[in-house]
This record gives sequence, C-alpha cells and structure tokens, in this order.
Amino acid sequence: MSEWVRVASVEECGSGCLRGVEAGGERIVLVNVDESVYALEDRCSHQDFPLSDGTLEDGKLECLYHGARFDPATGKALTLPAIRPVRSFPVEVRGSDIYVQVE
Ligand code: FES
Repeated sequence: MSEWVRVASVEECGSGCLRGVEAGGERIVLVNVDESVYALEDRCSHQDFPLSDGTLEDGKLECLYHGARFDPATGKALTLPAIRPVRSFPVEVRGSDIYVQVE
C-alpha cells in the first residue's frame, strides 16, 4: 500500500538542491529544478552509486561516478553509460513541507 511521507522542508531543498533522504525504506534523491521538486531512486542505474553525490547540470542530474545524466522529472537515462531509467516517485509540496509517495 502506498503512503505519503514527509521527507524535507521546502527550505531544506531550495532551487538547485540535490538532497538524499529516506522514506518507507527507500533511498531517494530530491532534486529541485527551478522551484519544481522531483524525487528519484537514489541509485544510479549504471552501477548503483548514489545519485545524491552528483550535480545538477543544465537542469539534468549528472552522476558523479561516470557522468551519466538523468531527467529529474522522469528518471529517464539521457546519456551513457546509463541505459536504464531510475525509478521516480510522486512529489507534493504541502505548505512548507515536501512529501513523497512510496510503496
Ligand atoms: S554509477 Fe552512475 S554513471 Fe556509473
């Protein structure tokens, strides 16, 4: 059964932020691109390293380890060496808090 879990305040994840959090036993990276917040599984689909160690480049999430890029909105892999997407989670901003829906 899915549930909404508060993972951070809006203040903790402002524009340009990448932040690793945990919700429902899942490691998640929050990504704020131009005030839109997205949540992806915090595990690169290339070799499982944390995407929260990476950077935001032109609105895309770039893995620190081998440079694969992902679309924060969908989790789609945009560049090699990653070819598979990472899971994305629904996000809601409720007042000053960020919630993510997990299983
Ligand atoms: S682990 Fe992310 S690109 Fe290799």
